[in-house]
Amino acid sequence: MVSHKFIYLITIYIITTLALHKFLNVIIFTDAQERTFSPEARYAHTSTLVGTKLFFFGGLIRLESNASIIVSTNDVFYLELSQPFNTMSPPWIKLSDISPLPVRLSWATSSYGGANNSMIFIFGGTMQSIKPAQDLDSNGLLLLPDFKHLIYSFDTQSFQWSIPIISGDEPYRRRELSAVTNDRGKIHFFGGKADKYTGSSTEGDFNEINVLDSLTLNWELGTLDGAPNPRDGHTATILNNGLIVFIGGREMVGPDKDLRLVNMRAIDVYDTKKAEWYFMQAAGPLVEGRILHSAVLSEQKYYLFNQDSPLFRS
Ligand SMILES: *[C@@H]1O[C@H](CO)[C@@H](O)[C@H](O)[C@H]1NC(C)=O
Ligand SMILES: *[C@@H]1O[C@H](CO)[C@@H](O)[C@H](O)[C@H]1NC(C)=O
Repeated sequence: MVSHKFIYLITIYIITTLALHKFLNVIIFTDAQERTFSPEARYAHTSTLVGTKLFFFGGLIRLESNASIIVSTNDVFYLELSQPFNTMSPPWIKLSDISPLPVRLSWATSSYGGANNSMIFIFGGTMQSIKPAQDLDSNGLLLLPDFKHLIYSFDTQSFQWSIPIISGDEPYRRRELSAVTNDRGKIHFFGGKADKYTGSSTEGDFNEINVLDSLTLNWELGTLDGAPNPRDGHTATILNNGLIVFIGGREMVGPDKDLRLVNMRAIDVYDTKKAEWYFMQAAGPLVEGRILHSAVLSEQKYYLFNQDSPLFRS
């Protein structure tokens, strides 16, 4: 026969267990909610790896209230890469609440530099004021251009934004250009195009190399001698020996400025130490020309990802 005391104890046990379970559930759920910040799908954002953190800035997203409208953002978030994680649910960390970009940003490019290579420099692209001039309800936001500053810098240790004061001739604002940093802290920006999205009344590609010395904050011009055709939508990858390898994209050719895809076998190389251009011919199977792809250097082999057919471009 079961005693009353035993039933009493069992009841207390069950109630306590249920309460504890519920309590733990709340903790786990809250924790999970914080961890499951997931940025909206986007394009035309820019990203830079510093140490073990991969930072993302801006980009174009669909408006929640009307998915047919695309707006630029001033989002900042990163991924910590020192720990393994499930790629189906990356542990994104949001910085927009504490350190948003000072402007809405799309089509910009970025690279690291500064003391200890702990700064990120963001160049050009489309910049718009954070506060909409008008809320057009489900028809979108009226965003005004804000092209006051070509460069913003982000301190990856304090998460502070600043507007660096840079001496020398400031380059033209462009988009779809490339940026890489050599081992002397010199950020090499190459190519890109100016158009209405960059606040330009004329449209055209560039073949300049603009070098930002991120330690002295000074603009220099790379050599134009032997430079390839004006180009946008290419990739630039720097090797350990200071050579930048440019692949693909679209080039502007001849006096009529015809646009065509760059031959993927034609590899342009810039030596950041000697300030010299080289040309190399790649062997192997023919790869179709492309723009807006990406490239990653790994153990002296290149990996090219994605491709964007010109047919799909606006
Ligand atoms: C760079 O690193 C050195 C040595 O670790 C440190 O003393 C210095 O404060 C760092 N500078 C910046 C700007 O982070
Ligand atoms: C969404 O925006 C488009 C373009 O401005 C507009 O034509 C459409 O009516 C909007 N949709 C809704 C549901 O308001």
